[in-house]
Amino acid sequence: LKQNQDAIIYKLNEESLAFFKLNLRSNEAKPAVKYLHSRDITNEDILFFEIGYLPKTKSLVEHLISKGYNISDIVDAGLGTYNEEHQKLYDIFVDRILFPIRNENKELIGFSGRIIETNSDRPKYLNTKETRVFSKRKIAYNFSEAIRAARIKKEIIVLEGYMDVISLHKNGIDNAIALMGTALSQYHVNLFKTIKGTVKMFLDGDEPGIKGNIEASQTLILNNQKVLIVNNPTNNDPDELIKQGRKSELEKMVVEALNPLQYIISKRWPKVDSKDFNSVEEFMKEICSFVLKCNNNILYETSVEELEKVTGLSKTAIISFYKKISLKQN
Ligand code: UTP
Ligand code: MN
Ligand code: MN
Ligand code: MN
Ligand code: MN
Repeated sequence: LKQNQDAIIYKLNEESLAFFKLNLRSNEAKPAVKYLHSRDITNEDILFFEIGYLPKTKSLVEHLISKGYNISDIVDAGLGTYNEEHQKLYDIFVDRILFPIRNENKELIGFSGRIIETNSDRPKYLNTKETRVFSKRKIAYNFSEAIRAARIKKEIIVLEGYMDVISLHKNGIDNAIALMGTALSQYHVNLFKTIKGTVKMFLDGDEPGIKGNIEASQTLILNNQKVLIVNNPTNNDPDELIKQGRKSELEKMVVEALNPLQYIISKRWPKVDSKDFNSVEEFMKEICSFVLKCNNNILYETSVEELEKVTGLSKTAIISFYKKISLKQN
């Protein structure tokens, strides 16, 4: 019964995707296609990533009803909302470019819709709400495609947005997936285990991306997964780097990805005022808590060596700092 209910959602999503794709070919979709082209997404990319569109004048829910689907199934799939007062079913996605999101078995679990206008008061992206099959912590955009290349290259690249996945794919990097955010969960860890290789974290270059890289690497180390982090020295995301013509720089960053300890030190140490005890202490706190949370002896030993080199503190001082912190944490 549970499987049947999931199957109805997948079927409704496929029916919706067909409608979105058809609408991207209509006259009304010209601004949407123009937007995609302005982002260097070609007609070939549109086909490969199954990109669609829903113009203001079209209703998905009316289309689904006309095909004989139930109101309650449409609501359960997250494709419409029912207004009791008006006794009417309303569309959720309105005037958005639609990107289908599939799970590891290629089942269509939901959509993300992007606006095409700039300076809008509407949210930039709108995703399918939580449903029986769609949960924000369980998205690995493009995993079912990337897995083949990832197994061959023994490496999977983890990005933040699906625009980044599309951008890297068309530039020959086809072993990348997107979290659709910065949070890496146990679901992702389990998927990555099937690759038997390295996970390369490559979230956006801004502070949320840096924090996400660090937290994700912690989760991966705790799960005995080999992990490296791409050291992006800019504030930009991978798609922006490509757009700026920095493809070879990006490729070099990926090849030269750092181990998590090197990454966190190289991100944080340049910001430290070494003459200011508080500033050094903040730095030590962040690195040492990171290492302790990873619960890995080799990492711990290495960090003592590295911190000695970087800060000039003695090993004894570093070890006693560790003791102080671990007492506080427990
Ligand atoms: P970003 O804000 O970094 O988006 O969010 P992006 O991928 O660079 O998008 P463009 O280049 O502006 O088009 C990263 C991811 O977080 C999710 C999306 O999945 C996005 O891909 N997100 C972001 C949302 O779900 N809602 C939002 O309003 C913003
Ligand atoms: Mn390809
Ligand atoms: Mn971002
Ligand atoms: Mn981004
Ligand atoms: Mn972007």
